[in-house]
Amino acid sequence: MFNLVIFGAPGSGKGTQSELLIEEYGLFHISTGEVLRDLIARGTELGKIADSYISKGNLIPDELMISILADLLDSNPATAGGVIFDGFPRTINQAKALKVMLAERNSKVHAVVGLEVEDAELIERLIKRGQDSGRADDNLETIKQRLEVYHTQTSPLKDYYVAEGKYHGIHGSGSVKDIFNSIKTSIDKVKP
Ligand code: AP5
Ligand code: MG
Repeated sequence: MFNLVIFGAPGSGKGTQSELLIEEYGLFHISTGEVLRDLIARGTELGKIADSYISKGNLIPDELMISILADLLDSNPATAGGVIFDGFPRTINQAKALKVMLAERNSKVHAVVGLEVEDAELIERLIKRGQDSGRADDNLETIKQRLEVYHTQTSPLKDYYVAEGKYHGIHGSGSVKDIFNSIKTSIDKVKP
């Protein structure tokens, strides 16, 4: 069993690399962004609340996000075999809650892969995706707020996981395949 956090700014490639990592390591993928977009698409009450934050580029409040994640772990027994957490944790509070949730399940975060990409490239990637796929939060105003939120609320997690000896920084520019190979090299050094 191996729990991996894939960490990085909006557009850094968390989703793209998660797809390859699932195939390689057979892990259960939890993308909190995808979970929230699914709730919005289904028009649930929770989805309406989530939309009021996502559409402005802000984070869903910790308490709500943590309870959504706990429900996901409880309702998907396959998560006990190992998870890629994509987009969670995003605050120190969420990281502490994840630690407790996994400890209650006799587990832990084994490694954190941080995809490091310059803001200018992130903006370029997200604007392009907004034009191609129309993801609602991929417009310049919301992208700028997502980046601001990342730098103020989420990036401190890097030091948190460095202190735990779990952080593996990866240069996140270049080809998807080269980035994947760098991640794999880092993971294979620590994976049991
Ligand atoms: P979320 O869905 O997690 O969005 P995000 O963090 O903004 O990141 P993205 O999904 O946009 O990017 P990514 O890193 O997955 O990159 P991708 O592979 O897609 O969260 C959305 C919102 O939900 C948040 O803003 C917040 O409101 C809420 N939320 C989610 N989790 C939360 C939490 N824990 N707490 C509170 N709120 C939460 O790639 C991006 C683009 O770049 C794609 O078009 C891709 O094809 C392209 N690309 C990928 N790799 C490369 C490469 N190497 N070179 C060139 N292009 C590339
Ligand atoms: Mg994503």
